Amino acid sequence: MRRMTASEHDATARDTTSLDWPAVPGLAFGGDYNPEQWPLEVQLEDVELMGQAGVNLVSVGIFSWAMLEPREGEYDWGWLDDVLDRLHARGVSAALATATASPPPWLTHRHPEILPQDADGSTLWPGARQAYSISSPVFRDYALRMTRAVAERYAAHPALALWHVDNELGCHNAHDFSDDAAAAFRSWLEARYGTVEELNRAWGTAFWSQRYSSFDEILPPRKAPMFVNPTQNLDFHRYSSDELLAYFRDMKAILRELTPAVPVTTNFMCTTRSKHMDYFAWAADMDVIATDHYTIADDDERHIELAFSADLTRGVADGRPWMLMEHSTSAVNWQLRNRTKSPDEMLRDSLSHVARGADAVMFFQWRQSAAGAEKYHSAMVPHAGADTDVFRTTVRLGEILQALEPVRGSTVRAQTAVLFDYEAWWASELDSHPRNDFSYPEEVMHWYRALWQAGVTVDVVHPSADLSGYRAIVVPSLYLVRDEHAQALADAAEAGASVLITFFSGIVDEHDAVRLGGYPGAFRELLGIRTEEFWTLQGRDSHALDDGGRGEFWAEKTHLVPDQGATAVRSWAEGPLAGHPAVTRRPLGAGAAWYVGTRPDAATLRQLVDSVLEEAGVAPEAEAPEDVEAVRRHGEDGVAYLFVLNHTAQDAVITAHGRELITGAEVAGELTVRAGEVAVVAEGC
Ligand code: GAL
Repeated sequence: MRRMTASEHDATARDTTSLDWPAVPGLAFGGDYNPEQWPLEVQLEDVELMGQAGVNLVSVGIFSWAMLEPREGEYDWGWLDDVLDRLHARGVSAALATATASPPPWLTHRHPEILPQDADGSTLWPGARQAYSISSPVFRDYALRMTRAVAERYAAHPALALWHVDNELGCHNAHDFSDDAAAAFRSWLEARYGTVEELNRAWGTAFWSQRYSSFDEILPPRKAPMFVNPTQNLDFHRYSSDELLAYFRDMKAILRELTPAVPVTTNFMCTTRSKHMDYFAWAADMDVIATDHYTIADDDERHIELAFSADLTRGVADGRPWMLMEHSTSAVNWQLRNRTKSPDEMLRDSLSHVARGADAVMFFQWRQSAAGAEKYHSAMVPHAGADTDVFRTTVRLGEILQALEPVRGSTVRAQTAVLFDYEAWWASELDSHPRNDFSYPEEVMHWYRALWQAGVTVDVVHPSADLSGYRAIVVPSLYLVRDEHAQALADAAEAGASVLITFFSGIVDEHDAVRLGGYPGAFRELLGIRTEEFWTLQGRDSHALDDGGRGEFWAEKTHLVPDQGATAVRSWAEGPLAGHPAVTRRPLGAGAAWYVGTRPDAATLRQLVDSVLEEAGVAPEAEAPEDVEAVRRHGEDGVAYLFVLNHTAQDAVITAHGRELITGAEVAGELTVRAGEVAVVAEGC
């Protein structure tokens, strides 16, 4: 593949510079680059190989603090100057990190008070990474000083295309219970509640003699003899997420001051496994949304979890193209049995993200480390070198991404939404609940999976999103809901949407106080039902429904409220609730409101999804065989890009018209997508 010269690169960069995207031509392609781990001859080979692969963006300096500031106030920039110069000479841009993701040993040695503590007061010691307390004023000073030093040094470097703040903020240290955290938590609470009386009311401190007479008495939810006050816990989640965001904002302010034309981001972890950061609340502070995603080895449907995570990222990005900042070429190193990916799986993983709105495909990492805790984590260049299937697939991916250049900037359009809310996640998994094995993402995934299998494109959005464009809205277990968000769902149903709400939704207000008068409090009126008691199903128990299906995990003693128009779509056929409704539907204005008061078995769940989609008039993106994924991106020019990902071991044939971008072939009606492969058809051009 021909590489651009440095001057061509400069010209393109100038053309494409904007604050919401790094100045990189086409789709961005690359990964984390840690040259400080390698001698010069390897670094020279790196840029050669990056050229072969078509890499155009690498994240540099993420863990470089100790190498850049080896002693307090003494900087060693030379090696990074050379790296950036070499990258620039080969047309590779840098997502330059603030180098703050791991404090150097001299800093933690001199200031052990910056180390975070867990809930029982144990210190998280240095020796790994991210050993800092986000609320430590001492750490914050040092980190901001380092950020300023890096930004001053490289503000004018032509390779600089994007600022990469810290790394996966909060990945290991989101919840810190240290004294610094206690002080910051108190200030946050004072700002939120104003008076301690207000806090007492919100936290329900009449219970268990918890009434506070001053903010000074309040602690983070440290390990206690029994369940800690749930609202204290919930507020600690909120505070921790806000505190991390405040740290990001401080860093961004410095970067913006010194480089007003360079976009700033940090890599999110928008997945079903990252709970602590409310990325919907963070999104507005990012110039561009970036995320990291890793599949889980023993999940046979990991491609569906990947699709969900990508759709969530797009929801966080408010529909705009986003960056896949990290994923893996093959195995990771941090699971029980790390799974090696076939070349086909690697390409499908990357392109599934592109299909769902990513305009950047990047990996952890460029070259597999020879030493350190991540030496068995795959990379674009593996231990065995360039003569490997992994590197050949990297090169192939680079070629494919070049062929997909027209896709850049196009967007996904969905008629179906799944609501997702970090606050509801935090609150629904607090302890001392009806079921303490409840998992919010698991419930969300039951419904997302059925929608994926129905072939429908879904936006995963926050309850505050504009819902007016959706025909079908699925609301899995939205335990905590604010009044205005409950109202927005009622309005959407009234206006014609089919809204489906599942069990353990609408139960509490924003302070985790139960909405009295019967469940599901906030949605009782909308649904025309009233539940008097939850009825959790023990162990592996499931009970029959009147259509032959089964409900698992959860049941409720639910009544239809007379004269509200709700009917039972499925009722319990056995067990203590026999005869009570399990699934209800209430026609409303031009739409309908459904309630599912159990976790239906997979077949029943799919039937319910099909009924809702049919009623809402939502069709699959394409008629495709099972496990063949079809998603479209739409350009402003009327061209659509149909991505077809064949996750099966058989060739798949689907109907399509246009030009297949990877092969360049014309498609006139019938498109064969080989087993395990991907096709992208530009339609209407
Ligand atoms: C991410 C992290 C990377 C690397 C990767 C391994 O969480 O940002 O630095 O550790 O995981 O999968």
